Amino acid sequence: MKDDFRKFMNGTLIIFVVGLFVWIGFVYVNSCGFSVNCIRGELPVERTPVPTLIPAFLPVAEPVGVPAAVADQCRTHAVDLVGAWVDAGALQEEVFQFVDVDGRTCESTFTEVQPLFSGANLWYAGSLSCVSCHSVDLAVFSAQLDLSSYEGIAAGSGRSEASLKGTDILGGGDWEKSKLREFLSENKPDVPGHDQQNTGLLIFAGKPLPQAAPVPTEAPTVTATPTP
Ligand code: HEC
Repeated sequence: MKDDFRKFMNGTLIIFVVGLFVWIGFVYVNSCGFSVNCIRGELPVERTPVPTLIPAFLPVAEPVGVPAAVADQCRTHAVDLVGAWVDAGALQEEVFQFVDVDGRTCESTFTEVQPLFSGANLWYAGSLSCVSCHSVDLAVFSAQLDLSSYEGIAAGSGRSEASLKGTDILGGGDWEKSKLREFLSENKPDVPGHDQQNTGLLIFAGKPLPQAAPVPTEAPTVTATPTP
């Protein structure tokens, strides 16, 4: 009875242990194959045909400072540009020169002066354009002055008819004496449209003249010492 039980227990134990080993072996071989390093046990890497990561490219940063488009332009106060144009004879096509705030000699034409009279919100924040009060219809517009065209500016103010010349606003070519300078840079509290000063506006205009090339210094002459 006692022996039978022992036999039975031993048998069960052996079957259990052998079964355990067989089971572990079965699981191992099943997943790793007959190898010791179990390469097959690594999870397969799933690759998608399209890269799912966004490439780490950032847009090229803009260089700080003066934008390239205006780097070769002169800077001047708008009134000074108008003044230089008047002093140069107030011509329609010809190039005139001015010295900009950086001390460079620059060139411009009337095409850069005209927009100063037609742009709104330009001379100071919220400013009306000059042409909103001074334009072609002399019967309606202030001071019978037309600042919308070269001809209008040249014809002057106080014109009863479009065909007539009025009062010269260009001081006969002398900016200091001109009405245009007076009404641009002086504060006239009782004239609508002229109750704020316009002198502050700094603009990019004109092209710098090429600087005179520095005189090349002569290369030192080499005098050969005669060998004694
Ligand atoms: C809100 C309307 C208004 C705006 C905007 C305006 N003006 Fe005038 N301007 C007048 C009035 C009104 C007079 C007449 C003043 C007077 O004769 O007493 C005048 C007079 C002038 C005169 C003198 C004419 C003369 O012979 O007496 C000049 C020059 C002039 N303006 C230029 C300009 C310029 C340049 C601008 C733009 C920067 C401008 N004006 C914007 C209303 C305006």
